[in-house]
Amino acid sequence: MTVTKKTIHGEWSSRFAFILAATGSAVGLGNIWKFPYITGENGGGAFVFVYLLCVALIGVPIMMSETMLGRRTRQDPVDTMRILAEEAGADSRWQYLGWMGVTAGLLILSYYSVIAGWSSAYILKAFTGSFFDADATAVKAIFDGFIESPLQLIFWHSLFMAATMLIVVRGVHDGLEHSVRLLMPGLFILMILLLAYAMSTSGYFQGLRFLIHPDFSKLTADSILTAMGQAFFTLSLGMGSVMVYGSYLSSDVSIVKASYIIAAADTLVALLAGLIIFPIVFTHGLHPDSGPGLIFKTLPIAFGSMTGGWLFGILFFLVLAIAALTSSIALIEPAVAWLVENKGFSREKACTLAGLAAWALGLGTVFSFNVWADFRIFGRTFFELLDYLTANLMLPIGGFCIAVFSGWIMHRQDSEQELNLPTARAYAVWKFLVSYVAPIAVFLVFLNAVGVI
Ligand code: TRP
Repeated sequence: MTVTKKTIHGEWSSRFAFILAATGSAVGLGNIWKFPYITGENGGGAFVFVYLLCVALIGVPIMMSETMLGRRTRQDPVDTMRILAEEAGADSRWQYLGWMGVTAGLLILSYYSVIAGWSSAYILKAFTGSFFDADATAVKAIFDGFIESPLQLIFWHSLFMAATMLIVVRGVHDGLEHSVRLLMPGLFILMILLLAYAMSTSGYFQGLRFLIHPDFSKLTADSILTAMGQAFFTLSLGMGSVMVYGSYLSSDVSIVKASYIIAAADTLVALLAGLIIFPIVFTHGLHPDSGPGLIFKTLPIAFGSMTGGWLFGILFFLVLAIAALTSSIALIEPAVAWLVENKGFSREKACTLAGLAAWALGLGTVFSFNVWADFRIFGRTFFELLDYLTANLMLPIGGFCIAVFSGWIMHRQDSEQELNLPTARAYAVWKFLVSYVAPIAVFLVFLNAVGVI
């Protein structure tokens, strides 16, 4: 069976560029906005422990698999799965995995862009000095007043989506690569400085304890599912983003090393975010479980009171918005790659179509914070439902299938050749993790969530 390796996309200019871009995709709102608030909602330390376990045992091996699958065919996720299934003599329905990825990406992007819009709006708020000397009550009032206004949210959501589309239109080299080179070091430096501030607050040790002290009695079946979902979400796994990025990767790069570096950087940023947010929460008598607004109700207090807080505030929300942008371009890329490579669309047309679809769906998330706030489906707002459906269900299912495919369906010599591990033992470890550990773990968490075990 000959495998066509034709693609209209480029290649990363170096291993470093791939690592930067993949880290750019991984590090985003998931680390700085979502990780702290779901950790707060799920009781702290024990949740963090399960999350770390999921990253190491499920996330990293699946990241290797997903990159490998993409690099082997150099195609969009739908065609990747179709070609690989053909190559392995397996059922052609494996291509639906690619489909699910394209869909999940657009669903996530729809709410991701809304929250990234909040961050963009906060750049302006910081600039105009809104947080100056503001206490917890004032900061909360600013946030509540903001999300009450559908028009403001729509404005910033539209702006962010337009920025995403503009970057994606420009393609791999010009668009994706350049935007991450400066950003990652910048984000890191800002966070270290904020950590220094958090360490000077009176609630620091309480915050630290909340994050690292595991109280397993607080762990419910649903929070275990959420922790696993977060591992997938934060590493951008299970929906073809990593597959597409892998498809732009040249063959001489070690997938395994790159995966470790990306996962470590991503985890570090999430933990840093927790170490910054929770001390502020406890210092000001706030509640860790205040939901999606958590970082917007805590960080401005710090910016309002610290020396140089005005500039810090502007820079922080700017960097967060750009970090979100480097993730949103990864979320839309599978859909765009599929429309271009499979449907023959021009890149412009594909970006416009995918972007507009996600934008329109995003309105549902906008309204779920104001006019539809009381409207519940299965006890959840529109935003919560979308988040649950994608992060907790679609990504783990996607990841499960990726693990099963690379562990059981793909021929051994193919994965061996593509991963190119230094020793037979290293390969055996990976093979064991993706064939048994990852799929069984995902399966058990699902069984646990539906109450079977
Ligand atoms: N990982 C990103 C974050 O933590 C979000 C993201 C980008 C993503 N691409 C993805 C999530 C693909 C799931 C799947 O902010």
